[in-house]
Amino acid sequence: MTQDKVLCDIGFIGLGVMGKNLVLNLADNGFNIAAFDLCDEKIQEAMEQDKQENTTGSPRVYGCSSYTELISQLKAPHLIVLSVPAGAPVDQVCENLIGAGIQPDDIIIDTGNSLWTDTVAREKKYKSNFLLFSSAVSGGEVGARFGPSLMPSGSPYAWTRVKPIWEAIAAKVDAETGKPIERSKPGQVITEGEPCAAYIGPAGAGHYVKMVHNGIEYADMQIICEAYHILNAGLGLSADEIADIFAQWNNGLLDSYLMEISVEVLRHKSCDTGTTLVDLILDKAGQKGTGLWTAMSSLEVGCPAPTIAQAVYARSISSFKQLRTQACTMLKGPESVTLSNQEKIDYIAQLHDAIYCAKMCAYAQGFQLMKLAAKEHGWALDFANIAKIWRAGCIIRATFLQSIAHAYERNEDLDNLLLDNFFAKQLSERQFNWRKAVCGATMFGIPNGALSSALSYYDSMRSETLPANLLQGQRDFFGAHTFERVDKADGKKYHVQWSTPERKTVIIE
Ligand code: 6PG
Repeated sequence: MTQDKVLCDIGFIGLGVMGKNLVLNLADNGFNIAAFDLCDEKIQEAMEQDKQENTTGSPRVYGCSSYTELISQLKAPHLIVLSVPAGAPVDQVCENLIGAGIQPDDIIIDTGNSLWTDTVAREKKYKSNFLLFSSAVSGGEVGARFGPSLMPSGSPYAWTRVKPIWEAIAAKVDAETGKPIERSKPGQVITEGEPCAAYIGPAGAGHYVKMVHNGIEYADMQIICEAYHILNAGLGLSADEIADIFAQWNNGLLDSYLMEISVEVLRHKSCDTGTTLVDLILDKAGQKGTGLWTAMSSLEVGCPAPTIAQAVYARSISSFKQLRTQACTMLKGPESVTLSNQEKIDYIAQLHDAIYCAKMCAYAQGFQLMKLAAKEHGWALDFANIAKIWRAGCIIRATFLQSIAHAYERNEDLDNLLLDNFFAKQLSERQFNWRKAVCGATMFGIPNGALSSALSYYDSMRSETLPANLLQGQRDFFGAHTFERVDKADGKKYHVQWSTPERKTVIIE
């Protein structure tokens, strides 16, 4: 590639769909990019698209044919953004950049969905070679192009350099309403509003927060999918009828990007058959791992996140299509239930409340998980800010996030969203409908693990007494694991000598 040598503001490696769109977003915001990809065609594509969309008269994206050329095209100290798959490819690119002469004061930003512990290890590993900064990106390809939600973390010095760039390209929100400011055209730049980019904390913190974002995303998606399943298989509604209900819900409390795209997916007709596409899509869900990481982390941290974990299990069980096909001929379900029109209308209203309540619980689980992880890892996470940067740009964007931000503004030490007065009132007012919706789904024989696990979570949280007393007794019986007593001083341990005839209780010091 022969080009005039122009010193660019930013180097960019990885021009897949996300990478190319981030490059064009950066270019729209006035930054010149030196771009590299292992695939030459992708470099050409990015340059071609820039040429078509660029109205400035001078090229904004410079294709480079090697890591060395990329570095030589950049202003020093170099700032290089990576948009490569998580895992080994990130290390491979880092090693290649070291080989190409990257310097200790250069900054490399990993924007992939890296496992947060990998990011912590990498920051240490490459300390003497360059400054590793990370910034998880959410929003898919459209978000990358017109304003993603960005979760930067790592060296505070690096953040001073990255901040103006990140705040420029991020999605923007109207601070008053919490609604996204529309940006959908190439060349369009938004300078007003609050940017969905905020410094999260030291290395790893940003990727952890993005991981939890994805865990919540899994739960939110599963809750919507269960509602679709109940309306479709339980109430016998068509995809178009369900799309109408979802569209109506999307204008109210359940307004969210995920609800909006569900309407689009449900309405779409296959271009070859002309029939509803969703009825033709194989019911086997894929997953790349971030939901699983969130569920695993919740178990490690000891934070209950059953709705998030359930959403991961729901994807797993969907993948056993053959097994399910076999089991459906053997395992009996309930007799079919027929509802009158009025009963259907009532049930749909109950289901609406069930979705809203389950969603509040899923977010409560995600935010509590971040809080406990932050405590464990010494991160000072700002939960109001995290909720704010998720109001636009990202996959779980919704006006609902504004209420979460307000809850943490009212009390930054809030242990669980369910304890915030606003959320407690919302849940208390709707819990009866939620129960009826879950009962209905169960009587239809439609799986509703996310909706019901969230209800169980809610009931566990509001139960002063749980059956862990019997459990402690069982543990003490077979393993002498001891127990505490409610009628004695805190912290004193007791054990019953179960195998002796007297079964005396002894105090264990
Ligand atoms: C986002 C998405 C994005 C991606 C995930 C989910 O925030 O933009 O979460 O990161 O879609 O990788 O993928 P899976 O559903 O395949 O796990």
